[in-house]
Amino acid sequence: MVQLTDQKPETELLIADVLKSLRKSPKELPCKLLYDERGSELYNDICEMPEYYQARTETRIMLDNAAEIARLIGTNCLLIEYGSGSSDKTRVLLDTLEDTAAYVPIDISKEHLLAAAKDINRDYPGLEVLPVCGDYNNHIDLPTPSKEVARRVVYFPGSTIGNFDPGPAVEFLQRVAELCGPGDGLLIGVDLKKDVEVLELAYDDPAGITADFNLNILRHLNNDIGSDFELDAFRHRAVYNEDEGRIEMHLISEVDQEVTIDGVVISFAEGENIWTESSYKYSPEGFARLASKAGFTVKHVWTDEKNLFSVQYLTR
Ligand SMILES: C[S@@+](CC[C@H](N)C(=O)[O-])C[C@H]1O[C@@H](n2cnc3c(N)ncnc32)[C@H](O)[C@@H]1O
Repeated sequence: MVQLTDQKPETELLIADVLKSLRKSPKELPCKLLYDERGSELYNDICEMPEYYQARTETRIMLDNAAEIARLIGTNCLLIEYGSGSSDKTRVLLDTLEDTAAYVPIDISKEHLLAAAKDINRDYPGLEVLPVCGDYNNHIDLPTPSKEVARRVVYFPGSTIGNFDPGPAVEFLQRVAELCGPGDGLLIGVDLKKDVEVLELAYDDPAGITADFNLNILRHLNNDIGSDFELDAFRHRAVYNEDEGRIEMHLISEVDQEVTIDGVVISFAEGENIWTESSYKYSPEGFARLASKAGFTVKHVWTDEKNLFSVQYLTR
C-alpha cells in the first residue's frame, strides 16, 4: 500500500502566483503549471521524440555507468527524488543499488506521481515507497522511513535544474544541501551547451508535441482555477537565447484578447508573449561553479560520446 503525503499548495496560492506572474512585463507563468496529469503524459511523449535527445541520452549514461554510480552511492541509502515524474530513470538506480532503505519521489503532478509510485511499489517488492506531492520551490517535510538509513542521496534527473534561473538554482541547491550531511550526495542530470539547431528542434518538434505541452499550461489553468484562456488564440514559440545560454518557451497571443482569472481581467495584445519555461544549458565548468555557490563539490561527471548531456555526482 502506497501512502501519498500531500503538501501541494492550495488553489488560492496558485491563483495569487498566476496573477502575480501575468502582471509582470513581459508576462510569465510558472513552469510547474505545465504539469498536471495531461502535462505529465505529454512530457512522456516528448521523451519519445527523436528530436528530444535529453531523455534517451541521460538514460543511456545511467545504464552505461550504473555500477560505478551505485558504488559511489553505497548501500542502505534513502533515495529522495525531486520532480520524479514517471520515475523511469530511477529504475536504473533501483536495479543496481544495494538495499535501498526507502524511495521518496516528490512531484507537483499528484495523480501521475501516485500512479508512478504504485508502479514502483509493485515492481520493487520490499522497497518502501513514500511519495510526496509538493512544490520543490517551497520547504517540503520528508516522511520518515521505517528502516535505518546509512545516507541520503538526492536524485534530480531530467535536466530539470535548467528550469531555474541561476539565482533560484543556487537557492534550490542550498535547500538540497541542507538535507545532505557528510557522505550524502546529489545525483543530477545536467543538459550541456550545443548547436542552436539541435536545441531549438528539441523544444519545437515538427509533430507539435512540445507545442501541445506548452499550451497545456493554459488548459491546466482553465481546469484548475476556472480561467477562460482560448487555447487556439495562442501559439508556441521556442528560441535559444545565446547570451543567457537558455532555451525560452513562450506562448504568443494571436489576437488582441482578454482573459478572466478569478474575476480579474488580463489583456493581451496581438503578438504579446507569456514566458512559460526556461531551460538553461551548462558547460561542466559552469555547472560546477553554480553548484559550488550552494556548497557542493562535483565528484564525478559522466557524459555520452557526443557530449550532449551529463549526469553528475556531487557532495557537500
Ligand atoms: C522535466 S520533467 C522530469 C521528469 C523525470 N524526472 C524525468 O527525468 O523524466 C520535470 C518534473 O518535475 C515536476 N515539477 C516541475 N516543477 C515542479 C515543482 N515546482 N515542484 C515539484 N515538482 C515539479 C514535473 O511535474 C515533472 O514531473
